[in-house]
Amino acid sequence: MLLSEMSKEQLEKFKAETQAEYDGYKEKGLSLNMERGKPSSAQLDLAMKMLAAVNSYDADYKASDGTDCRNYGGLDGIIDAKNLFSPMLGVSNDELIICGNSSLNIMYDMIARCIIFGVDGVHKPWKDYDKIKWLCPVPGYDRHFAICESFGIEMIPVPLKEDGPDMDMIEKLVAEDDTIKGIWCVPMYSNPTGITYSDEVVKRFAALNPKAEDFRIFWDNAYCIHHLTKTPDKLLNILDECKKTGREDMVYMFASTSKITFAGGGIAVMAASKKNVDYIKSLMTIQTIGYDKINQLRHAKFFGNYEGLMAHMEKHREIIAPRFEAVLSALSKEIAPLGIGSWHNPNGGYFISFDSMDGCAKRIVALCKEAGVALTPAGAAFPYRNDPRDRNIRIAPTFPPIEEIKEAMKVFVCAVKLASAEKLLADMK
Ligand SMILES: Cc1ncc(COP(=O)(O)O)c(C=O)c1O
Repeated sequence: MLLSEMSKEQLEKFKAETQAEYDGYKEKGLSLNMERGKPSSAQLDLAMKMLAAVNSYDADYKASDGTDCRNYGGLDGIIDAKNLFSPMLGVSNDELIICGNSSLNIMYDMIARCIIFGVDGVHKPWKDYDKIKWLCPVPGYDRHFAICESFGIEMIPVPLKEDGPDMDMIEKLVAEDDTIKGIWCVPMYSNPTGITYSDEVVKRFAALNPKAEDFRIFWDNAYCIHHLTKTPDKLLNILDECKKTGREDMVYMFASTSKITFAGGGIAVMAASKKNVDYIKSLMTIQTIGYDKINQLRHAKFFGNYEGLMAHMEKHREIIAPRFEAVLSALSKEIAPLGIGSWHNPNGGYFISFDSMDGCAKRIVALCKEAGVALTPAGAAFPYRNDPRDRNIRIAPTFPPIEEIKEAMKVFVCAVKLASAEKLLADMK
């Protein structure tokens, strides 16, 4: 029976029973965590042999074109790393820059460069505007929003639907306002909802006609090869689409191996039009002599080629797919029949995004915390941490062992039931 269809007496009984179950969990003194999207130890173990790739005093330290990876040079990365990652983003080697250990770092730097120098040295730097604005599909990645907030960029939330952000809204906003300079996109297995942008959405992005000529799409394809099923989603290549509309300078693509090899010890990459790459490199060369080529070589040797990389991702899938399944089955068994929440079954990525009844998310997270289950704070997936409907909760199932996930989900569904019953009863008063 749907909770919303229960009479006051039925709801009171339901609430009392749920409260008793919840008190039982509290007595257990649990300490479980589904807070951040971190790879599990088993996933990290998969990459340990990479350390043996270039690891001793007599190791081969040369790239396949003879580059000595121990020395200076090669600002945009070694050929072997380019050959490995260009198929991942579907770009040519001269559209790709192999960077350091964090894609968040390159996105931050990219915005900082635009603020200080402008997007191409022709358009005025963003610092010369009184205020600039950014479109933020919501729910989204909290650290993207933190970058905007730290630079004082005003964020405009845009609803994220099943096939991507609300394009009607985006087209209208960018056409009217030349202080809107960019948008965050996690186009495949989005953080946190897990949806992938449809072909139509990608084409509409490529056809955007922003009033600001220096408007940029930050296409953070962090999860492009993180599939959870054998029938993965497919994403249209935005750079190719932008070439067709003559707007190839409008997009910057990003990705990394943070959740493929080692988080913080991997390789981040960015891709863009040749013109953008040349300009970015002209600024990068002041900033750094080059990134860690030994680590690039280590990655290239370990994976061998793109097929090797994909085979490695299959091992990740085997480890994390059952953990997602544990969360999803608890939700569909315990929550779906009561009609007190909704979510998307993702085909990839790192998260499940749960929408409770309006006005319940903070309460659910607090109840979980009190019972020893840590979740991402409610509202974290919104600019300024403000979820206007107080309903979104991000669940991160990759890190804890499966038994812990099952235990944590018992508490979670119980908290959802309790908070929902409390809300419905309060609304009856
Ligand atoms: C969408 C998205 N982009 C970027 C990152 C961070 O990537 P990196 O470790 O390469 O900085 C994450 C990590 O959770 C993410 O979810």
